Amino acid sequence: MITDLTSIYTDSIGTKQSFTPSTEYIPTLEDTKSSSRVMDEQYNESCSDWSNVSINTTLKDLTACVERYHNLDPNRFDQTDIPFVIAEYGCATGAASVLPLQTIINAVRRIQPRMTIQIILNDLPENHHGLAISAVSQGLSLYDDIYIMVAGKDFTKQVFPNNSVDIAYSNMTAQIIPQAPCPRDENVFFLANSKNIQSEWGEKWVQAFEKHWESFISNRQKELKTNGQLFVTVLIYDDPILPYQEKETQFYHEVAGVCLKNLLQKYNLADKLQSTLKTSSSMFKSHYIDICDKYNEKIQVVSSNSYDIIDYFYAEYERTKDSRQFGMKVAAYIKGWWAHVLEGGLVSEGVNQQLANTISNEFFDTNLPKFVSERASIYPEYFRVLALSVQKI
Ligand SMILES: C[S@@+](CC[C@H](N)C(=O)[O-])C[C@H]1O[C@@H](n2cnc3c(N)ncnc32)[C@H](O)[C@@H]1O
Repeated sequence: MITDLTSIYTDSIGTKQSFTPSTEYIPTLEDTKSSSRVMDEQYNESCSDWSNVSINTTLKDLTACVERYHNLDPNRFDQTDIPFVIAEYGCATGAASVLPLQTIINAVRRIQPRMTIQIILNDLPENHHGLAISAVSQGLSLYDDIYIMVAGKDFTKQVFPNNSVDIAYSNMTAQIIPQAPCPRDENVFFLANSKNIQSEWGEKWVQAFEKHWESFISNRQKELKTNGQLFVTVLIYDDPILPYQEKETQFYHEVAGVCLKNLLQKYNLADKLQSTLKTSSSMFKSHYIDICDKYNEKIQVVSSNSYDIIDYFYAEYERTKDSRQFGMKVAAYIKGWWAHVLEGGLVSEGVNQQLANTISNEFFDTNLPKFVSERASIYPEYFRVLALSVQKI
């Protein structure tokens, strides 16, 4: 078993990467379960177009964070010899980091062109940090006096020293709970609705989410400088849920409970379905705000805008009506954020690594593209994003 687990780690970061976060890092069984949260090596190619649509929509709120910081603390922008620290939490492979980082840098340099900028990209230790450094360095290559580094650490802990970060940023990451609190419905994620959050298992998801989000918020509060700004975007659900969220719930229920389950049945592994599912949650906006409000002597929610974001793949399908392409692109995108979880989950249940890879390839490269291509009618046209700006008092 341990050998199998070690090979996951090696496959994930060792063999294909020139950069190794830490040669000291030897994953335990628990680490391996959580390491399956990291994104696939193909994440930049298959997911960044999708991510960048929502990033583009929320950039104005991000720019407002820098301007607000300046209004609150104009002297900070005169201290050009103290590097302006931008920390990104959950950078994955970096392609989706470039737009927001450019936005922050441009806003800072409009105010103070001579400001030295230090960017620290955070993700879990087993993330493909080499890919992140390379994508971000390339994306920011036109700027001078920018220093890019990585911090491989679980962000539910404190990652940076007290009072050291000027602008903290995180996109589509804070909704990932470290571990499933209980066996869940046959859905790829926990998607909240007014009924399921009152069920016994739904309450456990809400509690696990609150614990997770509280540790995220309380640690960022420590790391930020006074008046420093935290900007977070996450997927949320509405109460009552919107028509496209009903579609999304059905779509991902069928992906897990029909498409994947059928394949696992073929290998007599249908009972392992639970451990292959994601630990991401789409909660209500109030779940996020209520936890922030607990810290209202130390932080303040400045804005909390919700946006309906057009799904990149669906929009393309509407133009082309090419269901085969649609199935292939959506399956590649889903693979980008699910493949490691699915394989890691099977291995942690005792399935050998080779079989886990075979199942994963068959699922993502063959079965899922076809399945999705036949389900454009229940694929959500939009998704809902909360853009949350929080400032340290
Ligand atoms: C869905 S991806 C989002 C990536 C990117 N920010 C984007 O917008 O496309 C989530 C990322 O968060 C990271 N992540 C999840 N939980 C984490 C944690 N507790 N600490 C650090 N990184 C975490 C994962 O490894 C993954 O790279």
